[in-house]
Amino acid sequence: MTNYAEGMLKDGALKGKTIIVTGGGTGLGKSMATYFSKLGANTVITSRKLEVLHETAKEITEHSGYPVLALACDVRDYEQVEQVIQDSKKEFGQVDVLLNNAAGNFISPTERLSHRAFDTVVDIVLKGSYNFTLALGKDWIQNKQKGNILSIVTTYAWTGSGYVVPSACAKAGVLSMTRSLAVEWAKYGIRCNAIAPGPFPTKGAWERLLPGGLKDKFDPAKKVPVGRVGDHQELANLAAYMVSDFSAYVNGEVITIDGGEWLKGAGEFSMLDQVPEELWEAMEMGRKKEGSKLKMMWLYLNGLRKVKFK
Ligand code: HXC
Ligand code: NAP
Repeated sequence: MTNYAEGMLKDGALKGKTIIVTGGGTGLGKSMATYFSKLGANTVITSRKLEVLHETAKEITEHSGYPVLALACDVRDYEQVEQVIQDSKKEFGQVDVLLNNAAGNFISPTERLSHRAFDTVVDIVLKGSYNFTLALGKDWIQNKQKGNILSIVTTYAWTGSGYVVPSACAKAGVLSMTRSLAVEWAKYGIRCNAIAPGPFPTKGAWERLLPGGLKDKFDPAKKVPVGRVGDHQELANLAAYMVSDFSAYVNGEVITIDGGEWLKGAGEFSMLDQVPEELWEAMEMGRKKEGSKLKMMWLYLNGLRKVKFK
């Protein structure tokens, strides 16, 4: 039975922890915040649109019974970030975990971008993540408190990707910050990790990365060896483990959850999954010099007809 859409951790696994989720009002941030709350965490969700946050907070609390605090904040503004931390502490006493999830992104040939467009994405993704990391890290160190930082990056943080270059630069920066601070701040009891998701359908990502008719022309599931896109609960399960104390020995790691997508793109011969059985059989017959020439030729031509390399 497939149960990847079910919760994984035991009830109360995050009880007593206060977790700030940036970009927690929508998409994957909302799904992760929902599961953290279900596991007993005090959850703070923050982004620019307060109305969206209030709606999400109400929905989560009604479902879980645990408190969710909605706070408006533009992650690009350090003072607003500090205010979120102060308000969270006022409400819940202390903050234990930061989930850097807020992002901005869109597709474009790089030469068509204005410098402001480039700044916008880098500022949300990289500056937003280091603003929260720095403000909370200082607070934890000053108060001699342990902490845990999890950042959502992408697989193109290390491969790079055309047409989303500001996002690729920024996510690479977030990954580098994660690995650097995992070592530097371990002495303070602060650990830092990242998750690199492959395609998980959300309105925010799909509208910006597959706009117009692209959605109908390009099916992201086809690029994934396991043959499907991700289920939000799968990511929420991994994130809940990473923010829990069960992962206390995991530090400086980036965990990919993409069904093998990026490796398929990297593998020199991955396109050979288009080769049908007949063609493999014909090639094997030829190699072993067995069977009739006629059958081999038929298998070969029939197989070749089905190959559709792009
Ligand atoms: C080119 C664009 C653009 C586009 C905006 N700009 N959209 N340029 N193509 N599609 C330019 C504008 O013209 C402007 O430059 C500058 O960027 C700032 O635009 P604003 O609209 O003023 O910015 P702002 O209101 O701050 O909105 C930020 C945003 C928006 C990033 C542009 O899309 C947003 O709010 N996004 C948040 C949610 C989001 O992006 N979610 C998707 C995450 S998915 P000029 O020069 O005209 O002033 C993700 C998935 C990764 O990261 C991996 C998937 C597998
Ligand atoms: P999403 O729903 O659009 O989430 C982005 C969130 O960031 C929104 O809630 C948005 O809220 C918030 N945000 C944007 N700009 C902000 C700012 N300046 N200050 C504060 N908050 C801001 O998209 P998503 O798909 O769930 O993405 C979530 C994360 O997963 C991102 O880090 C993304 O890069 C990553 N990711 C997604 C996929 C995927 O397939 N979906 C794959 C790989 C990685 P407001 O508009 O209210 O500010």
